[in-house]
Amino acid sequence: MAVYLFVLFFVAVYLSSVVELLDNGLARRPPMGWMSWGYYMCGVDCQRNPQKCLDEKLILSVADKFYKEGYQEAGFEYIIIDDCWSEKKRDHNGKLVADRKRFPNGMKYIADYIHKLGLKFGMYTNIAATTCMGYPGSREHFKTDAKMFAEWEVDYLKVDGCFVEEDYLNIAYIKLGAHLNATGRPMVYSCSWPYYIEFIHHKQPDYQSVSKYCNVWRSYHDVVTSWSAIKAIVTHYLEAYEHLYKFHGPGHWNDPDMLIFGTGSLTDSQSRVHIAVYAMLAAPLLLSCDMNRISEYEKKLLLNLDLIAIAQDPLGVMAKPHALQRLVTMWVKPHLPKKGDKYNSVSFALVNLSDETATVSFTPGQYGLNSSDNYAVMDIFAQLFIRNMSLSDTFRVNVPSEDAAIYTMFPL
Ligand SMILES: *[C@@H]1O[C@H](CO)[C@@H](O)[C@H](O)[C@H]1NC(C)=O
Ligand SMILES: *[C@@H]1O[C@H](CO)[C@@H](O)[C@H](O)[C@H]1NC(C)=O
Ligand SMILES: *[C@@H]1O[C@H](CO)[C@@H](O)[C@H](O)[C@H]1NC(C)=O
Ligand SMILES: *[C@@H]1O[C@H](CO)[C@@H](O)[C@H](O)[C@H]1NC(C)=O
Repeated sequence: MAVYLFVLFFVAVYLSSVVELLDNGLARRPPMGWMSWGYYMCGVDCQRNPQKCLDEKLILSVADKFYKEGYQEAGFEYIIIDDCWSEKKRDHNGKLVADRKRFPNGMKYIADYIHKLGLKFGMYTNIAATTCMGYPGSREHFKTDAKMFAEWEVDYLKVDGCFVEEDYLNIAYIKLGAHLNATGRPMVYSCSWPYYIEFIHHKQPDYQSVSKYCNVWRSYHDVVTSWSAIKAIVTHYLEAYEHLYKFHGPGHWNDPDMLIFGTGSLTDSQSRVHIAVYAMLAAPLLLSCDMNRISEYEKKLLLNLDLIAIAQDPLGVMAKPHALQRLVTMWVKPHLPKKGDKYNSVSFALVNLSDETATVSFTPGQYGLNSSDNYAVMDIFAQLFIRNMSLSDTFRVNVPSEDAAIYTMFPL
């Protein structure tokens, strides 16, 4: 027995030394794009509810918007169809079939259209026998479905985790990932795995494993189109930071779920909080809305390249939150450019979730800045250099209630 355990031990050590992070070369920066679920949900009733119809026309129109209105240049590229895209039954060969009315030309047609514009195409399945909304899921069909998604030239696959046991989740996501890999087509692998482990099965997710097998994973509830949902997500990441930041970086990202811009849910100041925290977290930036309803101000934020540069920084560091007052948090994120390969630039986001205004002061030198030369300070929302400062200077900022400000310090 002892000898047997001894041998097993070495086998285990050997195996753990050969497995590595998911190495499909994708998602070196957090994915940006559009996903149908947040706003369109299961938009199958196009006759009675044309405003929320999930169909070919919608998907192609998002691609056109990205292409024509500067979103693509800003980095928005993935267009992802979520649940409710298929017929209720597989065909006689066991293959999934796109809904014949809403996607009359099939998915490859949509993929081709999107690719021709230089954009990328994403789809959805569930790891169980049905999807969350009752459409056919991939259980028992991993190989067939992986092959089919590859044939459709899918670039991103979101895999949900409704209706299955904890043990199965821990095995199935790894197995499906291997089938995706075996197709030879690199696809960003987005897993809902840890969300279901933590919030449905009330266990601790094994993030070591999740980050090894998935490019992107959901670690909290679905966003809904309201300010309170955004506050809950921000608060969750504040509390879960210590737990999550280690697993976050190029190729593997925590996903706080979609942006709710374009849904009329946020004031301008609340939209600053939403995008500021997502940028500082290095979160995926996936819109979910009727692109025609994005307000002028929201569009200005989405196309603010100084802000997007923080969100998409190649170091991929998740900002660390510091509670300054009960409802005021300062998120601190080191990023490029570096001076002399030594001194990072650092962004500070001040976020006030409360409903009053006040002033905070902080000394950047206490939060990881260490160049003894000055720093140039940029106000990211105004896109202006506002002053120079030294390590020992104190910075006073007024942050109105439910608002955010971001200051980036570039070493001079
Ligand atoms: C499959 O996995 C191998 C080993 O991690 C990797 O080198 C390769 O790029 C992957 N291929 C695809 C298509 O994901
Ligand atoms: C944010 O609002 C709260 C109101 O409760 C206030 O006490 C706090 O000082 C404000 N913080 C900032 C930085 O303005
Ligand atoms: C400054 O801080 C960065 C990041 O914490 C670190 O890598 C670097 O070595 C520090 N430089 C000096 C001169 O202390
Ligand atoms: C900051 O310092 C740089 C370099 O010394 C200088 O060119 C620039 O004018 C200064 N900016 C401000 C706002 O004082």
